Amino acid sequence: MHIVSVGVSKFCFLFAVAFCCLLLLLIPALQPPPRQLELPQPRPQVRPAQARPSHHTLVPAGIDSARATDSPTGLSGLEIQRRTIRTKLTQNEKHSHKLGVASERVPERDVGLSSWSKSLDMLELKDLFIAVKTTRKYHKSRLELLIQTWVSQAKEQTYIFTDGEDKELQMRTGANIINTNCSAAHNRQALCCKMSVEYDKFIESQKKWFCHVDDDNYVILPSLLRLLSSYHHSQDIYLGRPSLDHPIEAAERVKSDGSVSVKFWFATGGAGFCISRGLALKMSPWASLGNFISTAEKIRLPDDCTIGYIIEALLEVTLTHTHLFHSHLENLQKLPADNVLDQVTLSYGGFENRRNVVSVVGGFSLAEDPTRFKTVHCLLYPDAGWCPKFKPEY
Ligand SMILES: *[C@@H]1O[C@H](CO)[C@@H](O)[C@H](O)[C@H]1NC(C)=O
Repeated sequence: MHIVSVGVSKFCFLFAVAFCCLLLLLIPALQPPPRQLELPQPRPQVRPAQARPSHHTLVPAGIDSARATDSPTGLSGLEIQRRTIRTKLTQNEKHSHKLGVASERVPERDVGLSSWSKSLDMLELKDLFIAVKTTRKYHKSRLELLIQTWVSQAKEQTYIFTDGEDKELQMRTGANIINTNCSAAHNRQALCCKMSVEYDKFIESQKKWFCHVDDDNYVILPSLLRLLSSYHHSQDIYLGRPSLDHPIEAAERVKSDGSVSVKFWFATGGAGFCISRGLALKMSPWASLGNFISTAEKIRLPDDCTIGYIIEALLEVTLTHTHLFHSHLENLQKLPADNVLDQVTLSYGGFENRRNVVSVVGGFSLAEDPTRFKTVHCLLYPDAGWCPKFKPEY
């Protein structure tokens, strides 16, 4: 028995040595195929925009989306999720700071933007779908100002979602005005109805990014492009300003019977928010073709909360907190004057709080431009026909 087993192990040893030699000989011959079989790198580790050559714009959106990274399904517990949020928050704040510094160093804004985009995602205005939510009664008082200012720079990309016909405004300005046929009431059902139409139109558009703003927001397009260029549209990205300093808690009535509650962050709709196409496609079961309205009804929350619920609670993707988006609920005067043009969205106080506007100095007095949007616009685009004809000082 003993001798036999020694014999067997000797044989095994010799065989193993022979096999190793054979392998060593074969290595050069085997090298090319393993390279082709290499597994794709996990996306989050590679800076996608840098890793990809600029010709990626030629790849059809559908193929790109198929490559999207999956949501972090491993992170199911709320505790872990909260920890992730904290990490993301600090990362993002560092990042925004970096962006701010970078743009301050560049004297000519547009040059700075184009060199930024070249090194990143090469995002262009045509890649965006910007939805503006409004209502018939604000077409004159709010919408016309937007069409005259920032919308004029992104006419093709901006879609105005309203609740009444306005052929005259459409003809005169050439804006994309979509009558949602939703109720003009300012209640949950009406707001969710509009969001639902916005979502469906975005999916139909094949654009890379969905951004939603209100009719009292000014969108600083160069800043928006710069911000989105630091991500890839096939990643799961939900960007916006949290309206509260803590997550909201709601009864879970979609995945369970409402006896348990879920906590999640949401981006306040009044400041605007953006969603990557990759993530928007995953929202489809709860957001497309009227499903958004029934999801919102189940959890009994407004439109922007429902977006947060679908993304954070159902898809387990965390909101990337940014302080570059601003709503009328903030103290806008507090924004440092030399940082105003680096923000992504601005707003103004409206009737109740007329003085709550951003502090910018330019061609228009407070009486001529109570919202400050025209002044901001002429600082960004001094060549607009109606801007005062002197060179603004940067
Ligand atoms: C609203 O109703 C009109 C007339 O019925 C229709 O042509 C239009 O497509 C509807 N809009 C939407 C967004 O469904």
